[in-house]
Amino acid sequence: MKASTDFVPFAQPSIGPEEEEAVLEVMRSGWLTTGKVTLAFEQEFAARLGVERALAVNSATSGLHLALEALGVGPGDVVVTSPYTFASTAAVARQLGAEVVFCDIEEEGYNLDPEALGAVLARTRNVKALIAVHVGGLPCRLDLIAPLCERYGVALVEDAAHAFPSKLPQGYAGTIGDVGVFSFYATKTITTGEGGMVVARDGRVRERISLMRSHGIDRAVWDRYTARTAAWSYSVVEAGYKYNLPDLLAAIGRVQLSKAERFLAEREAIAARYDEAFAELAGIRLPPRGPGHAWHLYALSVDAKALGFSRDEFIERLRAEGVGASVHFIPLHLMPYWAGRYGLVPDSFPRALAAFNAEVSLPASQGLDAASVERVAASVRKIVGAGA
Ligand SMILES: Cc1ncc(COP(=O)(O)O)c(C=O)c1O
Repeated sequence: MKASTDFVPFAQPSIGPEEEEAVLEVMRSGWLTTGKVTLAFEQEFAARLGVERALAVNSATSGLHLALEALGVGPGDVVVTSPYTFASTAAVARQLGAEVVFCDIEEEGYNLDPEALGAVLARTRNVKALIAVHVGGLPCRLDLIAPLCERYGVALVEDAAHAFPSKLPQGYAGTIGDVGVFSFYATKTITTGEGGMVVARDGRVRERISLMRSHGIDRAVWDRYTARTAAWSYSVVEAGYKYNLPDLLAAIGRVQLSKAERFLAEREAIAARYDEAFAELAGIRLPPRGPGHAWHLYALSVDAKALGFSRDEFIERLRAEGVGASVHFIPLHLMPYWAGRYGLVPDSFPRALAAFNAEVSLPASQGLDAASVERVAASVRKIVGAGA
């Protein structure tokens, strides 16, 4: 990201001449859509995570939809997830005709609370899948959550949209549950503009995802019934979707993937600098942390009572200092659709509500230059009355 004298935006992609060159190469190749570049991206991504196969898709939303579909989620099923997430995590369950049951988050964090989850799973019937979100790149307590899923016979889907590359003791985020889904949306830890990747433990689930992401077309089946293997021939065996990632975007992803370690180191350095600048500031709580954090978000918590002004006002004051910020997340149970469908009120999930009312995501992406980091740090200190 370039140094900005007038405004530090919340997030900007870190794209260099290597990505530009890679896209041009695809443009000149005569093959723009899904092809060998996407295949190479999948192979490199799988190798990076140490898994057999990764499936590129056009968004994490598509990936989550495919994950639930491949796990057999449908009408009559329940999908459990946290309200502290983006719209698509829960929407994909409804798209398949399943109902959603929300479960509150940890007291001091943004991830699903394992204890609350135990209670939800004990009292809810027909739960087919759980979607655990690694919010901001901080891994969920899968050491507690995965055994709960096993006990209740619930498939575990990791929404790892923020979590490449987050690491748990058991392995990389996304590779521990039945299915893991990553996002390459423009603001994420690596980007293709729009895009995502899906990994799955079970080969049959992978096959189903692979089939359904491209129209339910199975060339192998066609080949089985015909003597010919002409390039134009194919067989539709399911009513599938069109969720493929084109080579044009995969080309960006391959370069970004090669920079992932550097990007992580940059985000870690930014987080460390903020930690130092904000340590012991009254009215500010530093982001929750733990080993293997990908630091996709630097998610502060502000104490409106101690500060004498609200989170919204905090963001307004940051803006006045020339610093952009965001909020992750507006909990889904506050959204008209979910509140209306399930009769939810703000206090239905008090921890998610409290976290939302206090959360501020500061600019902390890879590529943010040192001057901007210092400007953000000084602005926050000024706003809370600690001076620059
Ligand atoms: C937690 C979470 N899950 C899923 C998504 C969906 O990702 P995509 O934009 O790649 O569909 C997002 C997007 O920001 C997200 O934050």
